[in-house]
Amino acid sequence: MKELVIRNMPKLPFDVTEALNQFRINLGFCGDEVKTIMVTSSLPNEGKSFLVMQLWRMMAEVGTPTLLIDCDYRNSEMRTKYGISSTEKIVGGAHYLAGKADMSDVIYQTNIPNGYMIPTTSAIANPTILLEGTRFSHMIESCAKTFSYVLIDTPPLGSVADALNVAPHCDGTVLVVRSGATPRKLVDNSVQLLKRTETPLLGIVLNRADMNSKSNMYYHRYYRSSYYYNSYGSRSQKQK
Ligand SMILES: Nc1ncnc2c1ncn2[C@@H]1O[C@H](COP(=O)(O)OP(=O)(O)O)[C@@H](O)[C@H]1O
Ligand SMILES: [Mg+2]
Repeated sequence: MKELVIRNMPKLPFDVTEALNQFRINLGFCGDEVKTIMVTSSLPNEGKSFLVMQLWRMMAEVGTPTLLIDCDYRNSEMRTKYGISSTEKIVGGAHYLAGKADMSDVIYQTNIPNGYMIPTTSAIANPTILLEGTRFSHMIESCAKTFSYVLIDTPPLGSVADALNVAPHCDGTVLVVRSGATPRKLVDNSVQLLKRTETPLLGIVLNRADMNSKSNMYYHRYYRSSYYYNSYGSRSQKQK
């Protein structure tokens, strides 16, 4: 299998790592039949790729063979942002969808043990025809048979319909909402759109929350105390 090297995986603050870890564990409770998970949001920059990437890394690090498929064929920044490279010319998922490559050509192992990837290469102006083709459903189905989890990054719902084409092939969807930035109406609209796909909406991730803002203080306090409880097993000691 060919290999990708990821050079810029950011170090995260403790709070963020812990929140992501809780999210990973909660996904595990969705059941064994939930293997292919699509992540989307209403707008760009809400943190879809960030969430997919970190979740993927965490799943891999606990020994779960996990595949990340970058399905943001129009505007993926994953390779540049995370410094993803290969010693050979990279062949992306769209090459397989267009019939120019086999599955084995587009699945890469990475320098993160148990972390596998189907990257994107150059941007495609209109990937709809590829997402609606039979090769797309075959790609997802065969990956679900091979890996414990398949995480799929997509473009925002407010811009293009790509995520709505991807969702019906998945076992569940996750909606990322940028705290304090995404208008409620847009979030509501995205929930309605995802519901129509009939793929279960597994959860909504409130991302990029400012933990110092007054409105988030309660959450922060609660979060900290529940962390101490879980970590040290003695609530009375740590919550005095
Ligand atoms: N929870 C977070 N903590 C820190 N940085 C974040 C977080 N979520 C997103 N970012 C940063 O915000 C920017 C936009 O996130 P990105 O995942 O690229 O958004 P999207 O894929 O939704 O367009 C990136 O620089 C990313 O690293
Ligand atoms: Mg993105």
